[in-house]
Amino acid sequence: MSQSRAVPRLAVLASGEGTNLQALLDTGERGDLAGEISLVISDRAESGALQRARAAGIPALHLPARLHPSRSDYDQLLARSLHDHGADLVVLAGFMRILSDEMVQAFAGRMLNIHPSLLPRHRGLHTHRRALEARDAVHGASVHFVVPELDAGPAVLQFRCAVQPWDTQASLSARVRRGEHLIYPIAVKWYCQGRLRCRDEHVMLDDQPLRAPTVLTRDGALALAAPD
Ligand code: GRF
Repeated sequence: MSQSRAVPRLAVLASGEGTNLQALLDTGERGDLAGEISLVISDRAESGALQRARAAGIPALHLPARLHPSRSDYDQLLARSLHDHGADLVVLAGFMRILSDEMVQAFAGRMLNIHPSLLPRHRGLHTHRRALEARDAVHGASVHFVVPELDAGPAVLQFRCAVQPWDTQASLSARVRRGEHLIYPIAVKWYCQGRLRCRDEHVMLDDQPLRAPTVLTRDGALALAAPD
């Protein structure tokens, strides 16, 4: 982060509804994010995230993939936009494009993602359906640092919830999404406060190695990973 800047600048990348973006915006509005969302980028013109950014008066950039069919061209444009904007942290919030290794490496340790499962379980798509099919008793969401391998970066914070016998994909997805809205602002705030760092895929929280993700418990408390 630039020495002259008071708080880190965050760029949020999103393709969909943007409810996680909204949770971050609301947290920022309450003065509780320790960072400033200064740019929102989407590959989809109709993305709710762009509408939410505009409504909040934040620069909203539509970068359509069809103009840049090669992944590397698209990612170069993306990286340029992020650099031009002085983004300190890139926050992936339902950005439905796989990023090139170059792009991920350019922001190594400065890119977070939220994934709707308890990583390393159910990497990839259709996580709620897969949790139901596998009869998982517990499901949830994970905030993790991004590494070149998809959904394989170290998890820093998880939300866990019970899977009920009557759950459908829709009910499970809604419960997990509510949990996402709790954990993403916390993890982003930790980063902005300088409490959370990732170097060479090793996560440090408050200067201690984080060997397993922190978990948001049912009563809203944060449980730290047990020391080994
Ligand atoms: C969330 O479920 C998130 O875990 C996944 O994409 C979805 C984005 O939802 N990566 P929204 O656009 O923030 O509502």
